[in-house]
Amino acid sequence: MIANAYVHGQVKLKSNNLIIAPSVLNANFLHLETDIKATERGGADWIHLDIMDGNFVPNISFGSGIAGQIRKCTKLPLDCHLMIEQPELHIESFAKAGVKYITVHAETTKHLDRLLNRIKELGCRAGVSINPATPFEAITEVLDLADLVLIMSVNPGFGGQSLIPYCLDKIHYLRSIKPNLQIEIDGGVNLNTLPLAKKAGANIFVVGSAIFGAKNIEEETKKFSKFKVIC
Ligand code: DX5
Ligand code: ZN
Repeated sequence: MIANAYVHGQVKLKSNNLIIAPSVLNANFLHLETDIKATERGGADWIHLDIMDGNFVPNISFGSGIAGQIRKCTKLPLDCHLMIEQPELHIESFAKAGVKYITVHAETTKHLDRLLNRIKELGCRAGVSINPATPFEAITEVLDLADLVLIMSVNPGFGGQSLIPYCLDKIHYLRSIKPNLQIEIDGGVNLNTLPLAKKAGANIFVVGSAIFGAKNIEEETKKFSKFKVIC
């Protein structure tokens, strides 16, 4: 448990800019390339790929084949979030597909240190993620090894859910002990909750349904891009 006495003080983001990472999970895959390009024009920085196996999470999304096709249709870095059991069996295929970040859940592997090192050996940046109810202590030993930490702010599996407020405490605490760490928030991020997540100390924002559910994806992405400031 994070120290209960921990009070939200003002933590200064050391990262020098904020990253908007639209998640294609809720996109219309029948015109995915068009919509991804619309987010690019709107100022998106990364494309977030939510990979789900129907086992670790109660939903199935897509695999490294689709990731490879997405690679061909955008110049943005691909931020691959593996919500799958035994991720060690699949990281090579996603690295080959050309993703830049591979984030694995601490809950899905017995050998997290070895897995993060293996992701780096494959030439990718290594991220680690925890679910809302997973204690922060599950990742403390790898905070200096991980290139990014993804804090889930919904119970993983579906887009369009509401942000769970207590997850902001984890972000705030993490930022206070790791001023330079890349901290990503995933789930329930919209134009109202992004400022709260930013204040807590996140600097990478996964946005799914709030962008891909909008009438005009380019214009909606521009609204999120406005939050990017050098700080
Ligand atoms: C949950 C997914 C979602 C998705 C974002 O497993 O990881 O969080 O990326 O979806 P929204 O932004 O609609 O919550
Ligand atoms: Zn995700």
